[in-house]
Amino acid sequence: MTLSMALTKGRLEKNTVEMLDQCGYGTEALKNKGRALVFADTKKDLEYFLVKANDCITYVEHGVADVGVVGKDTLLEGGSDYYELLDLDIGKCKFIVASLPENDLFNKVGHVKIGTKYPKVAQNYFLGRGMDVEIIKIDGSVELSPLLGLCDGIVDIMETGTTLRENGLIVLDTVCPISARLIVNKASFRLKRKEILDLIADLESVVKNNAQSTQ
Ligand code: PRP
Repeated sequence: MTLSMALTKGRLEKNTVEMLDQCGYGTEALKNKGRALVFADTKKDLEYFLVKANDCITYVEHGVADVGVVGKDTLLEGGSDYYELLDLDIGKCKFIVASLPENDLFNKVGHVKIGTKYPKVAQNYFLGRGMDVEIIKIDGSVELSPLLGLCDGIVDIMETGTTLRENGLIVLDTVCPISARLIVNKASFRLKRKEILDLIADLESVVKNNAQSTQ
């Protein structure tokens, strides 16, 4: 039975395709994709499609994709009607709390405002610290919001740290590490169990090899 696989386009895409290559799969079409969005594997009974991170969860939850590759950041913020079965150990970064050096938001008396693309993650983090903050949803370039005085600090993703550094922001705390995960539709896991377990075994061996070669 053909397995359909939703891949997150953008930052994660290159690393994901590399991993599928390492599995020995036929990803030529994914690498020469033009404007196409659906791609057949040339060696395995697999069909890929490229979607935005949030949509990856939606397609998997609805069973249109049997499996998906998506960042833990999106999973923490999005739905939960799927199985998360493998940490692919790619797309590694972390959620951080950052601010201008002069904005000591953890010791601020009074109203604290936090800008973020991830309101749920931010809310949970501050609730965990016993702080009742106002969350302001920002859709991109979150680092701009404390610079312009919209908020006291941000909860955002840090990969290299360049964006924070170039905008004079400092890390106040780490919320949690992030990496790409393999998620699986619940019904597909019953109906296509063998195919999914084979895929997981292939990916798992690549994860292990990659971990060994970076030691
Ligand atoms: C992400 C994130 C930071 C930046 C961090 O934004 O929100 O802004 O990357 O990366 P760095 O630590 O390597 O500098 P993205 O590039 O996805 O764009 P956006 O700000 O428009 O969401």
